[in-house]
Amino acid sequence: MRKPIIAGNWKMNNTIAATKALVTDLIPLVKGAKSEVVICTPYTDLATAAELVKGTNIHLGAENVHWAESGAFTGEISADMLVELGVEYVIIGHSERRQYFGETDETVNKRVKAALAKGLKPIICVGETLEQREKNRVKSVLKKQTIGAFQDVTEEDLANIVIAYEPVWAIGTGKTATAQDANDTIKIIRNQIAKLYNRKAANKLRIQYGGSMKPANAAELMAMKEIDGGLIGGASLKAADFAKIVKYYEA
Ligand code: 13P
Repeated sequence: MRKPIIAGNWKMNNTIAATKALVTDLIPLVKGAKSEVVICTPYTDLATAAELVKGTNIHLGAENVHWAESGAFTGEISADMLVELGVEYVIIGHSERRQYFGETDETVNKRVKAALAKGLKPIICVGETLEQREKNRVKSVLKKQTIGAFQDVTEEDLANIVIAYEPVWAIGTGKTATAQDANDTIKIIRNQIAKLYNRKAANKLRIQYGGSMKPANAAELMAMKEIDGGLIGGASLKAADFAKIVKYYEA
């Protein structure tokens, strides 16, 4: 009952020229996919990508959004600016932003509320570091991140939210969580959502796995009961690889 959602996170990759080439290659490859297809691009590529994906089954996302409506925030981008370009999804709280750019659970929550207020659909990222995993703190870390992100978010809002569980140690490292491990950890997050809202709401919420997901492991991960999709970094930069993940069910 939860529609699978495969989203590419391009991170800081692709010029406008590269965007044109990649999206043009991708469109026929993902046509007719059973999964929802999203590409999250750098701000500078959004207008180009928006034009190209018009009338296709590819949805557009950004990689961040500021919480203020407008004002003196040099270098930042507002939700209105994204909406105007045809952006539908926005990644919020990616571990790289938490690690390098001072993102906290509090700022994640501010961004989530600002995005929802303008009709953008947040893809909220949570996940533990290797150190936290080794110290058996996975559950407490995910609980804290989840409670923090969902402060003042209503049950109705959940229909427009996706969570991405991305263990930091699996991002860009080639190390994937085992399908069972990813499934069990996502279950912890879903249980936390059930505690914050209720079981029915939690069962409707889509939760992705992210971290070295690729054509070779997508089908196995997607076969797990709790895993509703993927947030794909490196493999989303190659049209053929990303399309194979989108059509994981054909493998
Ligand atoms: P990789 O797929 O490159 O490991 O990146 C995952 C990620 O961070 C997606 O947001």
